[in-house]
Amino acid sequence: MSFIADYANWFYLIGAVLFIMTLRGLSGPKTAIMGNRYGMAGMAIAILTTFFVAPAPESPVVWLIIAAMVLGGAIGIFRARTVPMTQMPETVALMHSMVGLSAVCIAAAAVLHSGLHHDSLHRFELFVGCFVGAITFSASIFAYGKLAAKKWAKTIKGGSVKPIQIILLVLMLACGAHYFLTENLVSFWAMTGVALVLGYYWIAPIGGGDMPVVVSLLNSFSGWAAAGIGFTLNNTMLIIAGSLVGSSGAILSYVMCKAMNRSLFNVLFGGFGQTAVAAGEVGDAKPKNYRSGSPDDAGFLMSNADSVIIVPGYGMAQGRAQNAVKELANTLKEKGVNVRFAIHPVAGRMPGHMNVLLAEADVPYEDIYEMDEINSDFASTDVVLVIGANDVVNPAAKDDPSSPIYGMPILEAYKAQTVMVIKRSMATGYAGLDNDLFYLDKTMMIFGDAKKVVEDMSKSINGGH
Ligand code: TAP
Repeated sequence: MSFIADYANWFYLIGAVLFIMTLRGLSGPKTAIMGNRYGMAGMAIAILTTFFVAPAPESPVVWLIIAAMVLGGAIGIFRARTVPMTQMPETVALMHSMVGLSAVCIAAAAVLHSGLHHDSLHRFELFVGCFVGAITFSASIFAYGKLAAKKWAKTIKGGSVKPIQIILLVLMLACGAHYFLTENLVSFWAMTGVALVLGYYWIAPIGGGDMPVVVSLLNSFSGWAAAGIGFTLNNTMLIIAGSLVGSSGAILSYVMCKAMNRSLFNVLFGGFGQTAVAAGEVGDAKPKNYRSGSPDDAGFLMSNADSVIIVPGYGMAQGRAQNAVKELANTLKEKGVNVRFAIHPVAGRMPGHMNVLLAEADVPYEDIYEMDEINSDFASTDVVLVIGANDVVNPAAKDDPSSPIYGMPILEAYKAQTVMVIKRSMATGYAGLDNDLFYLDKTMMIFGDAKKVVEDMSKSINGGH
């Protein structure tokens, strides 16, 4: 085993290359499974190598590490096997919080380690790694609560929020700087405490449609926190893996901001969430008219169409309707209808949510189109079937400058000849906004749970054969 320790840097290099191949693989649905396997192999190599490098094998700490790994692994396997797809976003947020907490614990352990002398560079790493970790921890816990719709995770509003954020930021940096200059432990703990509160105050005012960007940004933060721990522990692998997660999360945040036509600064420090919630709360005074129909009506119209575009949204995930949707698409194809799927980058509750569900149902990749590829085809399409999507097809983003989502690119479903929308009620979507698409003359609302309605549509098309 000393062989592994002797060649540790080479093993770390192999692990790093595998991680880079993981990211490459995860960039497309066809290669994603292979990408995951590279990731697992890279992680196994990284853990094993570190295990043989770090503690002396006879040290009792080894057993503590093994016990922690077995416990963590068991919890991870249990969660991975039982978590429904609809709860993945909050699970991801919770995992980010764990990385943040680890960074804080490791920094605290290093600070408390009586045998260690911390030079100025080391103190700097500890102070930055610790406050990034603490902010990541509390912000991710709040993001978890928000995505899981917990009562305690309420969006905070008001003019006092920004001054509080600034005061906390200055206080945190001041305590950190004092620790850096004097090695004063009280300042270190004060910095950690203030960073925890700042994480909450930073994330709590952000609401509504900006959560996707926040989640990918926290992903990035958790990476940088891990890289910080890597410096503390003098572990090259952790520095590389943390930097890869940190930079890929930052790129993802940028891509998502572009998809929403917003700047990162505006998302993090603007008031989108507050405005969106307020709009939902006020509601529309005048009741508007809409047309509703049955799954039979919809089945008849679709089976007589030449082209159908299916727009899935969060409601498809919530109703676990993906397999039924695939069956419906097959039924229509057998009737000679050209069926395609249109995916908005932030449909659902996490990046790639719809792609994952459709892949799980074995929908062929060539039937799935990204927003930019398909938007110009809506006008020449007979029927658009919107299944549990709302914000991502809201025309207010195009034509209502007063709307909080104005400027965000949408799937232009409203341009199709006929629009059908499956949802359970006239309730708003995630951003809390009313949707004029539902009130167009050419729109038919089909109320009910997505899975049941889609199954009834298939039955009706097959029965009428
Ligand atoms: P939403 O705007 O949230 O709309 C989903 C619609 O599905 C709701 O209006 C709901 O209406 C309906 N629905 C829920 N359960 C249903 C069920 N079982 N059967 C039928 N319909 C059901 O979804 P979207 O259009 O996908 O937009 C996503 C939103 O989430 C965006 O605002 C986005 O910014 C935000 N978000 C995205 C992410 C990522 S990264 N994708 C993460 C967090 C937040 P009823 O209640 O009337 O049924």
